[in-house]
Amino acid sequence: MRIDIISVLPELMESPFQASILKRAVQKGLAEVHFHQLRDWSTGKYRQIDDEPYGGGAGMVMMVEPLDKCISELKSQRNYDEIIYLTPEGETLNQKIANSLSIKNNLMFICGHYKGIDQRVRDLHVSKEISIGDYVLTGGELAACVLADSVIRLLPGVLNDEQSALTDSFQDDLLSPPIYTRPEEYKGLKVPQVLLSGNFAKIEQWRHDEAVRITRERRPDLLGED
Ligand code: ADE
Repeated sequence: MRIDIISVLPELMESPFQASILKRAVQKGLAEVHFHQLRDWSTGKYRQIDDEPYGGGAGMVMMVEPLDKCISELKSQRNYDEIIYLTPEGETLNQKIANSLSIKNNLMFICGHYKGIDQRVRDLHVSKEISIGDYVLTGGELAACVLADSVIRLLPGVLNDEQSALTDSFQDDLLSPPIYTRPEEYKGLKVPQVLLSGNFAKIEQWRHDEAVRITRERRPDLLGED
């Protein structure tokens, strides 16, 4: 998979791909992440990429021309399965969206700043708008990293068996059950006996029951019970 990310602050997004699982995914060639500095596509002397909103009001708007030029150049080089604008107005990211994007080959992410991007960029190029939650960030960069992480970890070969994504929270619309490792007892708190029993059918049943209990308690909406 290749992800192209357009931003005025690409340096904000470098470190997540330089550590741990994402770094390995890039090193193994399973994911390629390319950053594009939007200012390189601005023609003015001051490399301007934003301007005042028509109709007045607070905040600046990212101009259509630099974004259109940058996106058009990238589109001339390959076919993008999705061109995604990260914005609080988008569909809220969930595991289903991450799963569906993980089977694509080429994705483009557009990071907004200030009040957002000129509507015409959306009209011309954007195929999907994604939000990472009902709050406002200073820009789309951190959201782009969250989205990239949620997608890249699903690519075949990125996680090993122990890290398998199949047992993640949300993968079956349930939150994860409690987990424990050594020691068996800590400050009087004991690992549930069933996990020490060696009876795998019973362990699976317990994990499922706990997952349902916790999901019902915290996220009844996932069970359609809210
Ligand atoms: N840009 C600013 N806030 C955002 C959010 N919540 N999700 C995605 N992109 C954003």
